[in-house]
Amino acid sequence: MSFPQHRPRRLRTTTAMRRMVAEHRVAPADLILPVFIREDLSEPRPITSMPGVVQHTTASLVAAAREAVELGLGGIMLFGIPAVRDAVGSAGLDPFGVLNKAIRDVRANVGDELVVMSDLCLDEFTDHGHCGVLDAHGQVDNDATLAVYAKMAVAQAAAGTHVVAPSGMMDGQVAVIREALDAAGFADVSVLAYAAKYASAFYGPFREAVDSQLDGDRRTYQMDPGNRREALHEVELDLAEGADIVMVKPAMSYLDILADVAAMSPVPVAAYQISGEYAMIEAAAANGWINRRAAIEESVLSIKRAGATMILTYWAAELAGWIRDNQ
Ligand code: PBG
Repeated sequence: MSFPQHRPRRLRTTTAMRRMVAEHRVAPADLILPVFIREDLSEPRPITSMPGVVQHTTASLVAAAREAVELGLGGIMLFGIPAVRDAVGSAGLDPFGVLNKAIRDVRANVGDELVVMSDLCLDEFTDHGHCGVLDAHGQVDNDATLAVYAKMAVAQAAAGTHVVAPSGMMDGQVAVIREALDAAGFADVSVLAYAAKYASAFYGPFREAVDSQLDGDRRTYQMDPGNRREALHEVELDLAEGADIVMVKPAMSYLDILADVAAMSPVPVAAYQISGEYAMIEAAAANGWINRRAAIEESVLSIKRAGATMILTYWAAELAGWIRDNQ
């Protein structure tokens, strides 16, 4: 009897063999491109900490959305940066505010060929930068915030979003949004719930991307990075409240959470490869310390392997182009 008897390396001998036995692969339709649109901008403005990502004008946003259709991406996630902020985030409710206008512009150009998703949160719209409104003591007021989210959801649905994505981690947010959408005649608008969203240091570059006014942190509403079981509780609550899709965020430092959620969720699971994950790989690649393309491909594949149905990544368009070129 020859030794070793079992030789797993046989299935790794050629590119064709490896391709045939691959358990997981990423398709363009799995990818969602997050984009930032800024009010009163005449030219796209680069985001220093996210090389290659910009704050869009209407024209560049529409071009990016059309490209996303051509590449066969799954969807686009819109974030708005208003010119004027206030304590209660009024610009988020304005039917002609930057985000609601962007939803209209994108829908007018892509129709139903791309899933149009919108961030449903107050942090870009408040002058204090928190995801909700504050009470008399300066604390985020959960229930007062829910009332604003309900109105925001209806405004986004009226603008034409296919999917609202509440990212503020307020208790009860999915239920209140679902009820408001249904009452306003938007039963077909889906809710992608940021179910297990952690208070992460890796959101750093995003704060530049949206000109965040936040001074402090979000630890009273986003999850503690040390907690694993609690993520399942958050997901169960969002499912019970009517979430159509649940999300884990960030992705790479939370692949265990993603795998847990993927194992129990009866609905599709999204994962968000966030700004800091993007910035780390870009920075290392710019220094020549890692192979950029290989690192991007591996990082997104690992998120798919852990169980994500869909992945939000700032590399969505570039990666979809590579996938297409490989076929
Ligand atoms: C909040 C929101 C954040 C991100 C998406 N939605 C920031 C935060 O919670 O501080 C982060 C995305 C990223 O870092 O790429 N509306």
